[in-house]
Amino acid sequence: MRLLIMGPPGVGKGTMAAYIKKTYNISHISTGELYREAIARMNSLGALAKGYLDRGELVPDAVTVDLVKETLKKSEYKEGFLLDGFPRTIPQAQALDDILEEKQWKIDVVLNLTADDETIIERITGRRICSNCGALYHTTNIKPAVDDICDNCGAALFQRLDDNRETVARRLKIYREQTEPLLEYYRRRGLLRDVDAEGTVADNIKEVEKALGGFNDND
Ligand code: AP5
Repeated sequence: MRLLIMGPPGVGKGTMAAYIKKTYNISHISTGELYREAIARMNSLGALAKGYLDRGELVPDAVTVDLVKETLKKSEYKEGFLLDGFPRTIPQAQALDDILEEKQWKIDVVLNLTADDETIIERITGRRICSNCGALYHTTNIKPAVDDICDNCGAALFQRLDDNRETVARRLKIYREQTEPLLEYYRRRGLLRDVDAEGTVADNIKEVEKALGGFNDND
């Protein structure tokens, strides 16, 4: 199964991706995560990407396309993948088409998560992440048993640098201008499945299951 998960920043893509990964045993690629890992390792990609992420701007298409192209060469993605955060622009979507065509692969479903801006801002500004295992929490919605400590592994939680109101506003604006037009790109091909992501995580899982329902690898 080859899936894309799309939607505005903070709508819950990473939360649903973690569920899909576990439930369907599918490899997850998050371009945001790849950039954050590169920044943590302080390698040349990280040095290039850091300013863009801190400002809430998109890393240039050529850099991100190369990153995804290289990542998809790994054997773990041969049988399928869930791509989260890519593509985010029309040129990225066209580049993905070329990459897939070369491998004779096709996208099966594009999930499109939606929620109001108020919900999104509240989710992003309250987000906390485990510094060790990457588990996602929220200061009011999804609290750990002990404040700022991960339930799974006991490591400290942290807040992303780009999770402040000012940067979120910029990320939302860029999403509307550059990423939203992609929805039509995939809707026209009959691949897009809308997911109402307003409710609780349990509600969102039900919506994702509904959107994936009826799909099987032989389609
Ligand atoms: P990226 O990491 O992809 O960030 P994003 O798209 O802004 O998405 P987020 O990770 O912020 O949110 P999410 O939708 O995954 O929400 P989550 O599940 O965490 O990209 C970061 C940056 O990298 C970009 O700004 C750009 O600079 C660069 N980049 C990445 N890809 C690129 C590309 N293709 N081209 C160029 N540049 C690129 O949930 C958010 C919070 O809400 C969490 O606290 C969670 O616990 C909580 N929550 C989730 N669901 C619910 C619910 N139902 N109810 C209550 N709380 C909930």
